[in-house]
Amino acid sequence: MPTNIAGSAPPAEFVASAGSARDFPREGLPEVAVAGRSNVGKSSLVNTLTGGKIARTSTSPGKTRTINFYRLDRRLFLVDLPGFGYARVPKAESRKWKQLVAQYFENRPAIALVIQLVDSRMNPTALDLQLAEWLGNLGIPRLIVATKADKLSGNQRAAQQRAISEAFGGEPVILSSAVTGAGLKEIWKRVADATRSEPREKSPKQ
Ligand code: GTP
Ligand code: MG
Repeated sequence: MPTNIAGSAPPAEFVASAGSARDFPREGLPEVAVAGRSNVGKSSLVNTLTGGKIARTSTSPGKTRTINFYRLDRRLFLVDLPGFGYARVPKAESRKWKQLVAQYFENRPAIALVIQLVDSRMNPTALDLQLAEWLGNLGIPRLIVATKADKLSGNQRAAQQRAISEAFGGEPVILSSAVTGAGLKEIWKRVADATRSEPREKSPKQ
């Protein structure tokens, strides 16, 4: 893919906002989904990757409630998922989240990569680790990205990168910032690698 490594973002178009599996787009492009807790910066990363303001962001958690599909350069879907783990969301709402996201993760063999976001300022929570385990059980490749790195000092960055990696069993972690653009090139490289390869096997790894 032509990526925006050189600095210019590929053209992005909004495709669908899905409140249920019925609304998922049919086209068979490879998909890269962005997942993580409410307010961690998923929609902001979608904007950073597309070089614009295509996804709505908010200072208050729970902004994105549907699954939003964006077509990037006609080569892949970038998928902005609703966040989880916001304490003030009623139980019924978080059950709805789980159902909708499960419909997505469990029925989309075109998913080439899930970019799993965690907040670089905190150690991953039980919910973050559960999401990683869920993806692992489904055999979905994931990339751990720690957001808001601009809010940390240089020393804190190195320490948090190590702590987060350890919490995920030693997996590599990319530090990113929607403010400075840190981590963007590395994320693009992973996106390009993942979407170049063959579609995943449909059956989950056991
Ligand atoms: P939900 O849709 O509610 O699940 O949230 P989200 O994960 O999509 O978060 P969103 O992108 O809306 O960002 C939440 C807040 O964090 C906004 O105020 C963003 O401006 C801010 N934010 C996101 N990424 C960064 C970052 O890298 N650095 C800083 N300083 N702020 C960020
Ligand atoms: Mg959002």
